[in-house]
Order: sequence, then C-alpha cells, then structure tokens
Amino acid sequence: MTMPAMFDNLRLPMIGSPLFIISNPDLVIAQCKAGIVGAFPALNAREKEGEPIELERWLTRITEELDRHNQANPDTPAAPYAVNQIVHRSNARLERDVEICAKYNVPVWITSLGAQEWVNEAAHGCGGISLHDVINNRFARKAIEKGADGLIAVAAGAGGHAGALSPFALVQEIRTWFDGPLFLSGAIARGDSILAAQAMGADGGYVGSAFIATEEANADAAYKQMIVDHGANDIVYSDLFTGVWGNYLKPSIAKAGMDPDNLERSDPSNMDFGEDRQKPKSWKEIWGSGQGIGAVGDVLPAAELVNRLEREYRAAWNRLQSAVKPA
Ligand SMILES: Cc1cc2nc3c(=O)[nH]c(=O)nc-3n(C[C@H](O)[C@H](O)[C@H](O)COP(=O)(O)O)c2cc1C
Repeated sequence: MTMPAMFDNLRLPMIGSPLFIISNPDLVIAQCKAGIVGAFPALNAREKEGEPIELERWLTRITEELDRHNQANPDTPAAPYAVNQIVHRSNARLERDVEICAKYNVPVWITSLGAQEWVNEAAHGCGGISLHDVINNRFARKAIEKGADGLIAVAAGAGGHAGALSPFALVQEIRTWFDGPLFLSGAIARGDSILAAQAMGADGGYVGSAFIATEEANADAAYKQMIVDHGANDIVYSDLFTGVWGNYLKPSIAKAGMDPDNLERSDPSNMDFGEDRQKPKSWKEIWGSGQGIGAVGDVLPAAELVNRLEREYRAAWNRLQSAVKPA
C-alpha cells in the first residue's frame, strides 16, 4: 500500500470527490466525520462583491467543526478534508484561492485540468499533499514531473469530466512506473468496487455521483431523485456542455429540449471553468453523473451512505476469502 500517512486512520480507503456546485461544507464535514476524505471545489465558495470571502468562511467552519469532533472522539477522529483547484487559465481566482488554502493549511489539495508546479509547492509549503486527476498515462507522468504527490485516475464512466479508458488499462499502465498514492475514479458506488479498485492496484476509490443523492448535497431534489431512478444506460458522454468530454444524465438533456442521442460536438476554444461559467440558460439544468448510479437506491444522509459502503466492502472481503484458493 502506498497511502500517505495522513490517510492512516481512514475508515474506508476512499475520497468523496469534489462536485461543482454540489459539494458544500455540510457534505464535506459529514464525509470527514464518517471517516472518509471529503472534498469540495474552491470555486463552490462564492461571495458577491464587497462581501467577506466565502472560501475563508467555509475553511474556518470545516476546520473548527472537525477539531471539535476530534476532541470529543479521540478514538474515531475525522478524516482529513480536501480542496479542489481548477488549474485552468479561465479560473481567475486560482492565485487568490491557493493563497487562502495555504493560509488555512489545507491538508489535501486536488488539482484538475492542468498540473502546475507552483500549486504543488504551495500545498507542500503548508504541510499538505497534492493529488492530480488524469485521464491517461501521459498526463499522469506530466503531473508527477510537476511535483504532484499522487494521482487520481479518472476512467471511463466517471461523472463530470471523465476519461474514456478502461479502469484496468489506466491503473495497469500507471502502475508500471508509479508506486505512489493512486485513487481510481469512475462509476464506483458500492463498497465491493472500492475493494476492486485496491485489487487492481489503486490505493482507494474516488466516489462522486453517489454523493449527489445525499441529504447534505447542494442539489435540486429532482436531480437527487434522477440519480436514484436511473442507471448506466441513461448516461451520455458529450463535450457539448463545457468543451471537455463528460458524462451527463440523458433525461435532464431531454428536459432541456435536446435529443441526448444526437448531440452536437463542441468548440474547445469556448472552454470556461471560471467562477461565472457562461452557459445558455437552458443548459442550467443539465445534470452531470457517472455510470455507477444503478447502485444508488435512496437519498440518504452521507454518513449512512458511508455505512453502506463499509458493509459492502467488508462483505466483499469475506466473500473473497473463500473465493481465492490459497497458494
Ligand atoms: C456533477 C459533477 C460535478 C463535478 N465537478 C467536479 C469539479 O468541480 N472538480 C473536479 O475535480 N471533479 C469534478 N467532478 C468529477 C468528480 O470529482 C469525480 O471524478 C467523479 O464524480 C467520479 O466518478 P463517479 O461520479 O462515477 O463516482 C464532478 C462530477 C460530477 C458528477
């Protein structure tokens, strides 16, 4: 195992991944208290001009609530939390947000859409670690060259900006040269799949869409229900909505008046991942999701979802004890 020491006390080897708009302090705190790494994109914390900086308020609240939890529960301390930085030129807040995260000693930094040495240095400067998400082996090498400590392999079927490679192919290729921290992203929504990620050579799972259907998630009730009601066949892979390939719920596209099975291609020069992403109004309710949602049967508190994942993880381990013949 190649997990960093700060992950020693995780209840399950997993990260509740950052979700644009959806991840908020309530969800992150619930995930960390449940014993898994909780994460949010820095850009989710937004203030209007002249208002106090929302990212500072979020970090203060998360730090204080997790400290209180740790004092009251020294035997079951909270997992560390993570902040996601979109390292793309359209993110005008990057420098400011990096400075704030360094000031608050954010323990885990997740970077997406471009690896940059100075962001990794900022993470290390405050005692944190950086994990960069990649969709292929070439980007993985680049990220490590630029000083990332670990990788998130985003395979086919992931929610948000997904890759197109089989998780087996991706993890196998990365493991030929990289033995550091590696999390697998894409359609993981059961504890069995977290154990499978470890069996494949990853250190843990990176789970996003399943957390949309939690009580704490900042998502429309109809979005949560759509996650509960649908499965892999209801997901379409398209680059139309952001210029980068990602997975979306077909019924939400149909509701916006488009045919999800005949979507146009996008113009990548329109890519915008800044705070005020400009989308046509009719796209506002086009909802992202990975292919793994067939395993999601209810909207639950995040802690109960983690309980389910742990039960499944342990049951899968027990099942394998009799399935794998001793050498
Ligand atoms: C609605 C939605 C929004 C997302 N937003 C972000 C984001 O802002 N930053 C990021 O690094 N990843 C983002 N992701 C990707 C997830 O962090 C993660 O890679 C993915 O959800 C894992 O696959 P799964 O959804 O099948 O579990 C998003 C995913 C979804 C479904």
